[in-house]
Amino acid sequence: MNNRNFLVINGPNLNRLGKREPGIYGAQTMEDLQTELVLFSKELFLDLSFEQSNNEGDLIDLIHGAENKFRGIVLNAGAYTHYSYAIRDAIASVDVPVIEVHLSNVHAREEFRQKSVIAPVTIGQISGFGFDSYKLALQVFHNQLKGDTL
Ligand code: DQA
Repeated sequence: MNNRNFLVINGPNLNRLGKREPGIYGAQTMEDLQTELVLFSKELFLDLSFEQSNNEGDLIDLIHGAENKFRGIVLNAGAYTHYSYAIRDAIASVDVPVIEVHLSNVHAREEFRQKSVIAPVTIGQISGFGFDSYKLALQVFHNQLKGDTL
């Protein structure tokens, strides 16, 4: 595969960004996130697609559908991160690298958020940097395309 297509998937309640607990997740909306990421991906010459769903099955279908289409997935699975073995298995079932991202620092929050059941099947986790968590993940994929991996 020789494309530069990457997929950003946001899970449940992330469509509420800007309204939802702004003290934790900030005042900017999902639209703002998309706009920023599209601009950033252009700087890196990446082609970005963007999906959001509140449903576990839809997220699983998006992960399955990414195979042979996308070089990598940036995934914020929201609360599913902490307990969805089905999403974990979906990631393990495809040959597409996934980077797990979170806006908030999940390790500094409630105990249930400190466990990620998907982390073991991702290539890494970036947590706590707001929109920059997504940009850092895209930067990693960009570096990997350049062969600039550690
Ligand atoms: C989140 C953290 C999760 O614990 C939470 O359920 C979310 C958002 C984050 O981006 O910080 O929905 O994934």
